[in-house]
Amino acid sequence: MSNFTRELVHLGKIVEEEMVKFLPKKNEFPPQLFEAMHYSTLSGGKRLRPIMVMKAAELFGMSYENVMPTACGIEMIHTYSLIHDDLPVMDNDDFRRGKPTCHKVYGEALALLAGDALLTHAFATIAMNSKIIGISLKAVLDVIEKVSLAAGGYGMIGGQVIDIETSGKNIDRDTLYYISNHKTGYLIKISLWSGARLAGASKEDLEIIELFGEKIGLAFQIVDDMLDEKGDENTLGKPVGSDIKNLKNTFVSMYGNIGCVKIINELSLEAKKLISHFKNSDFFIQLTDFIVNRSY
Ligand code: IPE
Ligand code: IPE
Ligand code: MG
Ligand code: MG
Ligand code: MG
Repeated sequence: MSNFTRELVHLGKIVEEEMVKFLPKKNEFPPQLFEAMHYSTLSGGKRLRPIMVMKAAELFGMSYENVMPTACGIEMIHTYSLIHDDLPVMDNDDFRRGKPTCHKVYGEALALLAGDALLTHAFATIAMNSKIIGISLKAVLDVIEKVSLAAGGYGMIGGQVIDIETSGKNIDRDTLYYISNHKTGYLIKISLWSGARLAGASKEDLEIIELFGEKIGLAFQIVDDMLDEKGDENTLGKPVGSDIKNLKNTFVSMYGNIGCVKIINELSLEAKKLISHFKNSDFFIQLTDFIVNRSY
């Protein structure tokens, strides 16, 4: 295992431990709801978005411990988006994070509601970041504003709507870029931005972080599209062939595998150039390589 992979595993464990603290307890009322939230949130998942919050804070000199509420809140939003994405009315998938999907275990109504509760609980969790000494209230409010926009109709949900509505239809390249940048890229970009903002990064530096996030966020979804066709189900922990089953427009259907590799390599080069602006950007250079070369 490389030092980078070791760090990902180590930080992932910290995220997992902190998530347990921030989620409602399983024996609180109504227990079936909290059980479903725990089921989808804990065990499994790469935890890349919370790790991005943590490492972006470190890049600007703040200990990651100070941004854990925001890191965990964003992972709750991401998990809710996966629960809803897998529902029969959306992608209709049966496996996620190596286990049966939430609706397969708890039924569709509870899965829908567990997603709703995760989304709302996420903002209570992020707001708790204001209680940490050394964090400015204004920064927390900025994060709440940006994360709301990234998760909502101008961001992730906008992308999901166009993804679903264009299934089985011919679309142009701009529409495909819109879908990927919004359904996936936006939350990744804002994870990095949030860590940096809480750590007190300057306006100029935040702009560079956002641009970097845009590049790796798009690359992340292009690789997701490729893995949906060529990945290994056990390694991925989710079904292969979901996009073809749903007649989705993806980077693979539009550009082919060779075209995808070309676009990803360009995005990776641009991303590394941007992040090299900062000292100690090593982790992010390796993160870019991880995103491009990943098999899960
Ligand atoms: C999967 O995200 C859904 C997309 C946005 C493409 P991840 O690949 O980060 O899923 P987990 O969190 O590791 O399960
Ligand atoms: C989902 O994109 C993005 C969100 C959940 C917002 P996909 O539908 O491609 O994600 P997977 O492949 O099911 O993880
Ligand atoms: Mg989907
Ligand atoms: Mg899906
Ligand atoms: Mg996919």
